[in-house]
Amino acid sequence: MAELAAADAGVLDEVRDGLGRAPKELPPKFFYDERGSELFEAITRLPEYYLTRAEAALLGRWMPEWLGALRPASLVELGAGSAVKTRLILDAIPAAQVYVPVDVSADFLESTARRVRGAYPGLEVRAVAADFTAAFALPGLPHPTLHAFLGSTIGNFAPDDAVALLRATRARMGTHDRFLMGVDLRKDPATVEAAYNDAAGVTAEFNRNMLRVVNARTGADFDVDAYEHRAFYHRAEHRIEMHLVASRAQTVTVPGAGRWTLAAGESIRTEISCKHDRASIEALFAAAGLRVERWEDDGLFAIVLGVPVLEVA
Ligand code: TRP
Repeated sequence: MAELAAADAGVLDEVRDGLGRAPKELPPKFFYDERGSELFEAITRLPEYYLTRAEAALLGRWMPEWLGALRPASLVELGAGSAVKTRLILDAIPAAQVYVPVDVSADFLESTARRVRGAYPGLEVRAVAADFTAAFALPGLPHPTLHAFLGSTIGNFAPDDAVALLRATRARMGTHDRFLMGVDLRKDPATVEAAYNDAAGVTAEFNRNMLRVVNARTGADFDVDAYEHRAFYHRAEHRIEMHLVASRAQTVTVPGAGRWTLAAGESIRTEISCKHDRASIEALFAAAGLRVERWEDDGLFAIVLGVPVLEVA
């Protein structure tokens, strides 16, 4: 009970803080109720959304070689989602005893855990329902542990937040553990923009679903159909920005948080997806106490293996 009240207060604070900014923002974690997670899975299958296919091909090609000698005994996955790509890792680490999917969507996480248990009967699956942008605890795990962060989720954090997240991950790692990350690379803006503006409108639906989630979790009265999806590449920042644009002037009330008016054409930013290159990743890693041990890319997308840098006092 006390916990629930605290979570709700946290949600209201986040909504109040985001809508109070100029321009307005809402945090991306509100994408992921069960429907949002399903819509995201549909995005990964879109012809325009090259990221998932590129990452899966790279994992299939390199995991046996990267992980064969390391023989991780456990796998922790941040933002596991449906764990489709996880199989490409698990198949390369037959000695793994424990898999810990971490995801903010508890319902989705449970079905993922069930599916992985079915496919890998010898594997202990210990799901952790947590917002990995906040502190969370891992169960005791056999080492070495592979910490995986796939899908270019790192791009959904501005550099300072990305460093904070990597540092927190580094703090959960032992000296022989490894960090595996997938990252979308800088490229021709038209290719990137198409990936976030699919012809079937799935990304638009995914974006608008955030307002449904905020309504459900706070009692807000966003008129979901009055917002349009807009995604564009910001060249100077090397990132996609996703917005919801009010199609007419409107007011939204969030009980206990406040009331805001939006002009016609005013937008709420819901997501950024930063695109990287090897130098920018090396800089993030260095700031977080990690070093790039391996890197492979196909020109569109990269997978990278990080190893803790031993701090010398
Ligand atoms: N991290 C992926 C990306 O930046 C997946 C993702 C997160 C995404 N939020 C999204 C994809 C919103 C499409 C729309 O692409």
